Amino acid sequence: MQNLKLIADEKELARQKEFLQRDREYTQELEAQLGRTPTYHVTNFGCQMNARDAEKLSGVLSEAGFTEAPDESADFVIFNTCTVRDNADQHFYGRLGRASHYKKSNPAMKIAVCGCMMQEKCNVDKLRRSYPYVDLIFGTHNLFRFPEYLCRVFENSQKYGASASARRVVDVWESTDLIVEDLPVERRYRYKSGINIMFGCNNFCSYCIVPYVRGRERSREPKEIIREIEKLAQDGVVEVMLLGQNVNSYGKDLEQPVTFADLLQEVAEIDGIKRVRFMTPHPKDIREDLLEVIAQHPNIARHVHFPLQSGSDRILKKMNRRYTKEQYIERALKIREMIPDVAITTDIIAGFPGEGPEDVDETIDVIKRVRFDNAYTFIYSKRTGTPAASMPQVPEEVVKEGFDRILSAVQESARNSTGALQGRVMTALAEEKNQQMDGYITGRLSNNTIVHFPGDESMIGKFYDVSLDDNKGFYYFGKALRENERGY
Ligand code: 5AD
Ligand code: SF4
Repeated sequence: MQNLKLIADEKELARQKEFLQRDREYTQELEAQLGRTPTYHVTNFGCQMNARDAEKLSGVLSEAGFTEAPDESADFVIFNTCTVRDNADQHFYGRLGRASHYKKSNPAMKIAVCGCMMQEKCNVDKLRRSYPYVDLIFGTHNLFRFPEYLCRVFENSQKYGASASARRVVDVWESTDLIVEDLPVERRYRYKSGINIMFGCNNFCSYCIVPYVRGRERSREPKEIIREIEKLAQDGVVEVMLLGQNVNSYGKDLEQPVTFADLLQEVAEIDGIKRVRFMTPHPKDIREDLLEVIAQHPNIARHVHFPLQSGSDRILKKMNRRYTKEQYIERALKIREMIPDVAITTDIIAGFPGEGPEDVDETIDVIKRVRFDNAYTFIYSKRTGTPAASMPQVPEEVVKEGFDRILSAVQESARNSTGALQGRVMTALAEEKNQQMDGYITGRLSNNTIVHFPGDESMIGKFYDVSLDDNKGFYYFGKALRENERGY
């Protein structure tokens, strides 16, 4: 079975490479017509998975001969959408509307839309009906066909002209088991990279749209992952983030099953990889073997993102999270016990159907007992087609009250744990120039805390021991004392 699948994956890759060759020819024609190099822009919404997909879209476009433009006035604009909460949907439609204005003054411009929102039929119908200027629509399962779609967009616009609706290319798949490796990728950062280790999610938390738009869990072969990371390391990448919706399930679906702990260990031992992060473990199946691997490898980040969602047993059950409040706390405290200096961060949803003030009290109790180092608090957003959408919803003022109480508990907790680092010397990866202050670099500690320190661009991508001098609440100002080649 697996062999047949690998053959199918390889065949598809070869097909797409041929299309990419044709894309290059079409781009050259466009260049002659415009009298300049055609430009592209990828507008990305949502999570780390989408950020990685955006790098793949950029990779194909630059390989095809486009250069990157800073905004949506480019010749080829692609929106990589997110649908996890409603505000992402609204934001996308706003941006798409604005991009259409550029098209009026640039008839050669093409607009494409892909990503999670396109896996929902209502959104594709809406684009077909009311957004005639969209040239290409595809979903999450067939992103690897982008070179082919790009080719069809060029061909259709020659065949049908720029305005006829027949020119539009639409292809959305319900699912796939193909995993196509090795298409071009344009990395956003030269020293760090995300790596997909698996796709999809089987958990069906009752509020979440992800299992419907990203499909069932599919793991990549460990040797492919290792090969990709070794190549990145040779290319100068020092930090990798392993990405999956539920990394604890990694490898269960492979012909020769592997655990996530095994994979993480192998990655941590690759030469040149000085910091390894991962996202996201599910509290229902975090195990000691994983914590042991982290504890034994100082180059695995001292940071576990551990989504709580709610501290109320009643709500957790309705969310289909499959752990209780006490189980969650016990596991979180086990993380703290086994990995000294670890930061635990979380996601919390306020206003899930049926949530009352006493449920919020339970959530706040967890925040106090686990002492989260940071947390994202989201207002529950009703997603059509999920089980929670048909449960009785909470009135807005009750949601708001709960959200505010959770937020202040989270902020107090984050302030306390950040404050506890005052005066220490810790290792930071210099990530970028500080956006606001000239002559400053923004770095990140292994535990994910941000520290700004004087420095210049030549430091980016290197590790430094930094003194954490000035606590600003959630981040620090400090000084780089010396370079730290080891990274920890
Ligand atoms: N409403 C609000 N927050 C949600 N999340 C997922 N689905 C929803 C929803 N319908 C949050 C969860 C998850 C994070 C990525 O997004 O907290 O962990
Ligand atoms: Fe959504 Fe739950 Fe899967 Fe996370 S684990 S992606 S919250 S269904």
